[in-house]
Amino acid sequence: MSKKIIIAIDGFSSTGKSTIAKLLAKKYNYIYVDTGAMYRAVTLFAKNNNFVGIDFLSKDKLITHLSDISLSFKFNSKLGFAEMYLNDKNVEKEIRTLEVSQLVSKVSAISEVRKKLVAEQQLMGKSSGIVMDGRDIGTVVFPNAELKLFMTASADKRATRRYKELIDRGDKVDFKDILFNVEERDRIDSTREDSPLLEADDAIGFDNSDMGIQEQFERICALVDRRIS
Ligand code: DC
Repeated sequence: MSKKIIIAIDGFSSTGKSTIAKLLAKKYNYIYVDTGAMYRAVTLFAKNNNFVGIDFLSKDKLITHLSDISLSFKFNSKLGFAEMYLNDKNVEKEIRTLEVSQLVSKVSAISEVRKKLVAEQQLMGKSSGIVMDGRDIGTVVFPNAELKLFMTASADKRATRRYKELIDRGDKVDFKDILFNVEERDRIDSTREDSPLLEADDAIGFDNSDMGIQEQFERICALVDRRIS
């Protein structure tokens, strides 16, 4: 029987981390955890309670109410992946709006938020056989992960992918706002004090600006196979 490992996928926003992670989880029968969805769900909670907006953040109020936030993933067999629930409500669609994307980097820079979510993520990885994507998985959540990948692509390519996703699901958005948001999140995520987005020393880098999903997937499967055999 093959060994079960932890696969950590980090990188910039809209680099296709979740697409690759879902394919890997399906092929190897692993659990997939989208940690960005957890930060987005906390942001949605903060937004709905007026703790965060474009020009304000009531950090102390949010910290006081962190214990009111219960996050869970429930597998949707029709979609083939787990959806995000916030206090037992499915928020998968609400957390993907541009509005939440514009606020999430502010909320995810708060150390108390990170502490709560990292502890939950480490619990999920206890039994291995897990593929987790985010910004600090290989550096903070699972520094001993057997395989660490770091995904990059040009900001323009990433904004184009994100724009298409939002337009396809019926959102009315401007390309320039998406590009601005992608660049702004890169800046905040990479420069925050607590767990900035960094490539782990032992991560394998993938620039997929000009690489299709299938080619990346095949290369990554070869890396996984070497580690589990
Ligand atoms: O992967 P995503 O774009 O859905 O993530 C949304 C935001 O959440 C991202 O801009 C930064 C934050 N995040 C984080 O700080 N740490 C993680 N492990 C995952 C996401």
